Amino acid sequence: MARILTGIQSSGRPHLGNILGAIIPAIELSKNPKNESFFFIADLHSLTTLKSGTERAEFVRAIAATWLAFGFDHNKNVFWRQSRIQEHAELAWYLNCFTPFPMLANATSFKEKSEKLADVNAGLFTYPVLQAADILLYDANIIPVGKDQKQHLEMTKDIASRFNQLAGKEILVLPEPKIDERIMTIPGIDGQKMSKSYHNYIDIFLLESDLKKVTKKILSDSKGLEEPKDPDNDITFKMYSLLATDDEIAAMRSKYVAGGYGYGHAKQALYEYILEKFAEPRRIFNYYMENTAELESILTSGESKARAIAQHTISKVRDVLGFSS
Ligand code: TYM
Repeated sequence: MARILTGIQSSGRPHLGNILGAIIPAIELSKNPKNESFFFIADLHSLTTLKSGTERAEFVRAIAATWLAFGFDHNKNVFWRQSRIQEHAELAWYLNCFTPFPMLANATSFKEKSEKLADVNAGLFTYPVLQAADILLYDANIIPVGKDQKQHLEMTKDIASRFNQLAGKEILVLPEPKIDERIMTIPGIDGQKMSKSYHNYIDIFLLESDLKKVTKKILSDSKGLEEPKDPDNDITFKMYSLLATDDEIAAMRSKYVAGGYGYGHAKQALYEYILEKFAEPRRIFNYYMENTAELESILTSGESKARAIAQHTISKVRDVLGFSS
């Protein structure tokens, strides 16, 4: 039996990158009866960039509704908000003291964020340690994530090994990332990595008219309608390829190469594809966003199972550190 664990930050509504990079692969793994899945909302992490409590609460609901919209079985698996289990923060503190400063200073995501953000706070710096705590608290084996999280997973293993070395035995279980080679990094509408902080994302749950506006904004070159186009260097084609079947991709490729097919046509095709492919998740998402009491009760029901496991791990850690006697 493998324990699967992953988290999504509540710093915005989930976008296509989160859905294809983490949510769908994680739900696929959770359907294997041999696996046990732990999916949580990283609301403590979101505090590094988002200070508004009202917005955070709204984004927590949107993330929970997205997991349910894509078929996560909350009865079979465990689903909770990170902030409700205090052991995440407690273990993060202990692990901070096992994390070399240069490891954090050299983290790619910290360097990227600190160049872009005005508020470069200490939470942003120690973000990977809290992430390590999230994973290690639950003895998780497999972590389905996008490629951008690879370094954080390496740091998690490194921190856990340092702790285990002190303990003289394997108290913390070393996890493995699971990164879908086909998906890797989903591009945003400007061709950079799709990200909440770059404002280049596609929110598949938008109203139809707003979704259409966003797809129209996808960057393309200036080739005219009649000219043949290079599908391999076009963002709309890349996005379409991530969603469509092999035959549909081949048909779209022929249209690009033949000419007489404009980027506007391709963007319209992508927009229609998103609406059709995600019709059912859009319906379920809207249902939960309107029935928030039901959503809240689902989220709360997973807490006691998560807490029991977290408390078991933290008591072993406290023993090693001399905090229990
Ligand atoms: P977040 O919310 O930034 O991203 C959530 C998940 O979505 C993936 N992702 C992408 N995948 C492909 N292409 C993209 N453009 C793209 N953008 C985002 C991310 O790789 C991630 O898997 N630090 C985590 C949250 C977290 C976590 C954890 C994850 C906190 N604790 C413990 C796993 C285990 C994050 O970046 O969230």
